[in-house]
Amino acid sequence: MGSRSMANDSSPRSIEDGAIRPGVGATRRQVLTTLMACAGLPFHPGSAWAAPTSTVLRAAPGTWQLAPAGQAATPVWSYGESIPGPTLRLRQGERVRCRLENRLPEQATTIHWHGIRLINGMDGVPGLTQAAVPPGEVFDYDFVAPDAGTYWYHAHERSWEQVARGLHGVLVVEEPEPPDVDEDIAIAIDDWRLSTDATLRDDFGAMHDRAHAGRVGNWVTANGAAALTVPARRNTRLRLRLVNTANGRIFSLSTQGLDGWIVALDGQPLDKPAPFERVVLGPAQRADLIVDVTGDPSSEAFLVSHERDGGYALVTFSIGEGARARRADPPRRMTPNPVPVPTDLAGARRSTLEMTGGAMGRMASARFEGKDREIRELVRHGMAWAMNGTAGMTPEPLLDLSRGETTVIRLVNDTAWPHAMHLHGHHFSVLGENGEPGPLRDTVLVDRGETREIAFVADNPGKWLIHCHMLEHAAAGMTTWIRVGA
Ligand code: C2O
Ligand code: CU
Repeated sequence: MGSRSMANDSSPRSIEDGAIRPGVGATRRQVLTTLMACAGLPFHPGSAWAAPTSTVLRAAPGTWQLAPAGQAATPVWSYGESIPGPTLRLRQGERVRCRLENRLPEQATTIHWHGIRLINGMDGVPGLTQAAVPPGEVFDYDFVAPDAGTYWYHAHERSWEQVARGLHGVLVVEEPEPPDVDEDIAIAIDDWRLSTDATLRDDFGAMHDRAHAGRVGNWVTANGAAALTVPARRNTRLRLRLVNTANGRIFSLSTQGLDGWIVALDGQPLDKPAPFERVVLGPAQRADLIVDVTGDPSSEAFLVSHERDGGYALVTFSIGEGARARRADPPRRMTPNPVPVPTDLAGARRSTLEMTGGAMGRMASARFEGKDREIRELVRHGMAWAMNGTAGMTPEPLLDLSRGETTVIRLVNDTAWPHAMHLHGHHFSVLGENGEPGPLRDTVLVDRGETREIAFVADNPGKWLIHCHMLEHAAAGMTTWIRVGA
């Protein structure tokens, strides 16, 4: 395996105390204990309605050991004093109550529950579904998570800064009958832009990042650790929930010494588990793997991240004693979530969302705040991109859909950059070459020059964003919205 291409790297690193955080690499029992502890409430194993899970997420400044042990800790903003924030675990259909407490200096904030098909008022979009929560104040989120799977939560106010400073965590919704695995491990994969003194570079939202690939960092972590090590045993089965929480970096991931299947994308089970080789995750995308530890005892297995100049270990699994005699049988197909699947594509309402602009693009002008403006003027306002000729939000939605209507949107990327397009409040099917519905997702990576079609049934009333999840692109014009009638 090659070495990392990143600045101030000082490999090799050993297993460090505290590299494994609550909710990370823990057994289910330990995880539940963690959630109970932070909720401060007794845990009711009975009906989901008996006692909603309650928890508090306090957004506040803190520090975290992002750099290797021995170097300085990094000042961050975090939920619950941890990077990533506490892994929240709910059961499918359970009602969750979560109080956001804003202890940030000066900035208002909100929480968006990425990928959860929840009621509009709990979606956490400032100015569209709620007012941003000023410092010193609280907001009570209260919703039901209808789908099992791997999701995440993150700040949605000045997200290019707040997410980059650390305001995000993993949200796991458990199936009533989860696949049989020995360990269930959520892994938030992130990158940071660190200075040599281990502080975060404070050039959040820089114009260069807005017009190029977004804020791509120079320091990659898994669950906030530069060298995450997880104990494992031969022939045991792991469920790895991979979440890309980076602002702009696209990860290409494979495994060594772990052999298995990809079973879900963006929380939604695949029709059938597919043998796993490699997965590409754009910002905000997730993949669930079920893998068996096939490496020999006292060797190591790896989750590997591939860059242009080679691969490096994101997570190391140290294979210890206690092996199983043989591998388990292949996993069964998981039960689909109750997502309405778009079937009537012939009768669907069709529209196009054309992306233009960015560095090396051909965009000369665009509409912004109701006026046509030349590119120079757009840049003065921090804008670099347009969707259907408009930079940023419009008073009227891109699409006004009736409830239950099926729609197909053609995402045309006429720029020199990839974009990770995310729709709130719904999952869509990405159509294949032949126009057949493919896997359900909430975020689709559209490569430079590429066109992808997505189809969904607009069954969730309200105002929903559709935006690029390269967060600097979203801030620089790639954000619009749709409305679904009541
Ligand atoms: Cu995860 Cu509007 O985003
Ligand atoms: Cu983009």
